[in-house]
Amino acid sequence: MEIAPSLLSCDFSQMGSEIERMDKAGADYMHLDVMDGHFVPNITFGAPVIKAVRKFTKKPFDVHLMISDPLKYADDFADAGADLITFHVECDSDIDKTIDKIKSRNVKVGLVIKPKTPASAVFPYLKKIDMVLVMTVEPGFGGQSFMADMLPKVKEIKAECQKLGIDTLPVEVDGGISESTIAQAAEAGVDICVAGTAVFKADDAEKAITSLKNIAEK
Ligand code: DX5
Ligand code: ZN
Repeated sequence: MEIAPSLLSCDFSQMGSEIERMDKAGADYMHLDVMDGHFVPNITFGAPVIKAVRKFTKKPFDVHLMISDPLKYADDFADAGADLITFHVECDSDIDKTIDKIKSRNVKVGLVIKPKTPASAVFPYLKKIDMVLVMTVEPGFGGQSFMADMLPKVKEIKAECQKLGIDTLPVEVDGGISESTIAQAAEAGVDICVAGTAVFKADDAEKAITSLKNIAEK
């Protein structure tokens, strides 16, 4: 299992050193939650902040866009140094055009589904994307409870990939991942877990990441 600490739970006055701390702790990706106050009822940060903190690690930046018009801003996030950009299938932009735009910048692209969206919403795009992110909380805030009833979607996506002859399409889950929920995610076949509170609020981030990985491997 790979772990992507969500910077949403970091000390924003020290974002650079928080990224260095997660790098040393064994993070596989840095997960950056971009919210526009329109697609979700919260506002975080945008491309200039991501660009400013890009230099603090060589680990890949997994940029999760919770914004209404990802097509309009895709270039800005590519320029800021995103390695992977995920955007919501429920957004207002044209999905195919947004996928193509991100890929044209040599950035990996993923589609995200909110809890009320069925897995089948991403099926038409599986052949052209690099990841699917299944939300296990309503997007907008850290620290919410894990929705285990989202996990069958992971299996449905994996089954559809098999049907389409796609061998390796990683599935990520985001929201409420902790030592008590990660085993269920692993069992469902999840490849990458985002974890905000569980990693940033732990006394020892390295122990927290190691423990999450160990539980997932069991
Ligand atoms: C929620 C964000 C998540 C969030 C996860 O909208 O997409 O990445 O930070 O936080 P935890 O792990 O605390 O649920
Ligand atoms: Zn996220």
